[in-house]
Amino acid sequence: MTDPVPSPTPFNIAVGADTRLQAGERSQTPRIGRALSAAAGVTITGLDLARPLSPEIRDLIRTAFLEHHVVVFPDQALTREQQYAFTANFGEIEPHIGRSPQSKRYAVAHVISNVDGNGRPVDRSSSPVSNYRWHTDKAYYAVPPMLTALYAVELPPQGGDTEFANTERGYAALPLETKRRLAGLRVVFQWGAARNASGEPLTDAELRERPPVDHPLVRTHPETGKKALYLGNHASHILGMSKAEGAQLLEELLQHTTTPQFVYAHRWRRGDLVIWDNRCLLHRAVANYEMDKYRRILHRSVVRGTIPF
Ligand code: SIN
Repeated sequence: MTDPVPSPTPFNIAVGADTRLQAGERSQTPRIGRALSAAAGVTITGLDLARPLSPEIRDLIRTAFLEHHVVVFPDQALTREQQYAFTANFGEIEPHIGRSPQSKRYAVAHVISNVDGNGRPVDRSSSPVSNYRWHTDKAYYAVPPMLTALYAVELPPQGGDTEFANTERGYAALPLETKRRLAGLRVVFQWGAARNASGEPLTDAELRERPPVDHPLVRTHPETGKKALYLGNHASHILGMSKAEGAQLLEELLQHTTTPQFVYAHRWRRGDLVIWDNRCLLHRAVANYEMDKYRRILHRSVVRGTIPF
């Protein structure tokens, strides 16, 4: 699933003189590694993301992001404020709407974890709204985020990966006939849609707070022009189709675009900061560790996107 694919030799990129260096600081010399898989992913080393980025380095990261969709920056040491400042290089940060006390300071970078209010690890992976299901961040917003940044603070000794499925490649691999069938279809997203099937339907208050939105099932990347499937958890049905027919089509497409050939699995190391493009990827946390024994804590910030078309 994550076999490295052949790619040109990694290279150093000379970036203009950094005028903000303090005594003892090293210069920022980004080094772009090989592609991490055929599906997505590249590593950039040689950067301290706690420091301001020059316009050249920001552009270099943005180019790698558009080409590889997932960019990994190992060995970082970031406060939530520094993570916020780094992420803000790529657009307007969207504050998280959440209620759990451990996620306070939503506007800076909120906490993603398997930890309860007393700091103990718990297994919530079977929840219909859990991030252990394939999804793209906040697809149930009229204007969903373009980029997510996730920073590894505390990890289990093994496992706790995040998988990314490339929905551009998934779309490209569909037969022409299927592409014709999908053209123009719109998918309805609603936060917690999967709860309805789980016997714990959304309450009237929740329905009012998070009304459904619809987006194209095949969306066009606003920067690269490439088409990608747009679906995943919180997708409830397809406009103009019976609920059952729409659900079946969504499930078939999800199975297709999450087959191993389209997936990169990120094995976290503490201090990794990973950014990804929500406009052409699905992702999920992987329940491959003892969730009620080990804590997994990450800090997340998201950048506002544009209306999908
Ligand atoms: C997310 O769904 O944004 C976080 C994924 C993870 O916890 O690995």
